[in-house]
Amino acid sequence: MEVLQAIKTRRSIRKYKKDPVPQEELEKVLDAGRWAPSASNLQPWKFIVLSDFKVKEKVAKSLAWGKFLDEAPLGIAVAADPRVSSHPVEDGSIAAYSILLAAHAVGLGGCWLNPSASEEEVKEILGIPKEERLISVMSIGYPAEAPSSTRKELKDITFTNRYGSK
Ligand SMILES: Cc1cc2nc3c(=O)[nH]c(=O)nc-3n(C[C@H](O)[C@H](O)[C@H](O)COP(=O)(O)O)c2cc1C
Repeated sequence: MEVLQAIKTRRSIRKYKKDPVPQEELEKVLDAGRWAPSASNLQPWKFIVLSDFKVKEKVAKSLAWGKFLDEAPLGIAVAADPRVSSHPVEDGSIAAYSILLAAHAVGLGGCWLNPSASEEEVKEILGIPKEERLISVMSIGYPAEAPSSTRKELKDITFTNRYGSK
């Protein structure tokens, strides 16, 4: 899929088919995370694939707005280490977005599930070291819905040379 088309047609998917995600497709998606840019190319991230139903269920219960994680065939958590880079949130977020975009490009769907309200609890479940940050948990699978979304108009969010200047 062409990149601009992928960017514009990607949607957050919250309902999934039962079909498993082939290993080959999962690797493509993870590899897109690996190729994300990072500050000084320090790549402070780790990707944890959640394939065990019990693990997904536990994480799902801890997430405020991600209870549907246990209905997705897979989850991917992105952790980032502040000891490796002083930009763990930026680097982890851009890797997570690369993962979501690549998932869409290969016909999968995903949704960012905000772990911030229960970060320590989810880290504990997944065995992520205390020193690391949990940036994102994503549900991944073949979409069983085709939601629409909206965006603010470009003219309302774009200025030239100075904030507020048209
Ligand atoms: C930082 C961040 C946190 C989000 N947290 C959640 C979440 O906890 N649960 C959820 O269902 N969607 C979550 N989303 C998905 C957004 O709701 C979604 O991206 C937004 O509504 C736009 O829809 P679209 O992705 O389909 O274009 C999150 C997205 C981002 C970037």
